[in-house]
Amino acid sequence: MDEKILARYNSAEGADDYLHKFERHWTERVNNRHEQRLIRRFLHSVSPVDPNGLALDLPCGYGRLYPIVRELGIPVVEGDWSFPLLQAARNIHARRDGVGSMQNYVRATALALPFSCGAFEFVLSARLSHHIRDPEQRLEHLRELLRVSRSWVLFTYFDAGSVKNRMHDFGRRYNGKRAKWTLTFDEVQTVGRAAGFQVIQWAWMSRLFSGHRYVLLRRD
Ligand SMILES: C[S@@+](CC[C@H](N)C(=O)[O-])C[C@H]1O[C@@H](n2cnc3c(N)ncnc32)[C@H](O)[C@@H]1O
Repeated sequence: MDEKILARYNSAEGADDYLHKFERHWTERVNNRHEQRLIRRFLHSVSPVDPNGLALDLPCGYGRLYPIVRELGIPVVEGDWSFPLLQAARNIHARRDGVGSMQNYVRATALALPFSCGAFEFVLSARLSHHIRDPEQRLEHLRELLRVSRSWVLFTYFDAGSVKNRMHDFGRRYNGKRAKWTLTFDEVQTVGRAAGFQVIQWAWMSRLFSGHRYVLLRRD
């Protein structure tokens, strides 16, 4: 994980900034709505799930995607490394659903999940992989998601082969920006297969020229 990015999310200012990210500009609002519709579509493939199972949303941030994940109809555990974002998620949840409904919050790192193998029926990890600087840790993040899932994993990563990434790489010759922290689709499939999963569906995160891929994997 990039220490600076992590520290930013774990600060009051950084958390507050993320809290309002999807309200600031119309393109973010459009992307957010599109992403939520996309996740609902993936969840249709996942349903029905074992009614006695649990879902994990990690990192949950301020719980942006919680209302969608809970449509699966099973309890959702919300996890993140950032205390202020977990607190924001709890506050939003309490205001919306009442204090009595707030119980499933865990502070955890996605790189060493504090859960046993197969603890969850469904695992979601959105918008984290591209913040992980070390390539081996990006793969480890995916391995951890697969390890704790009994059935399904939905996760995002920045795709090395995307047009957006290729254009970014081209631009780097002139603007000196750093390379994006990516995975290849092949790497995702290979790590998935090694853990007994196969890719069932995938889609770009936004219609507006995205390099982020959502990938749904199912245990064989
Ligand atoms: C871009 S936000 C995404 C949050 C949420 N998934 C969403 O889509 O709104 C990235 C989140 O990753 C969390 N995070 C960063 N590094 C982490 C780590 N190693 N383990 C767990 N959470 C981490 C941050 O605190 C932040 O909430």
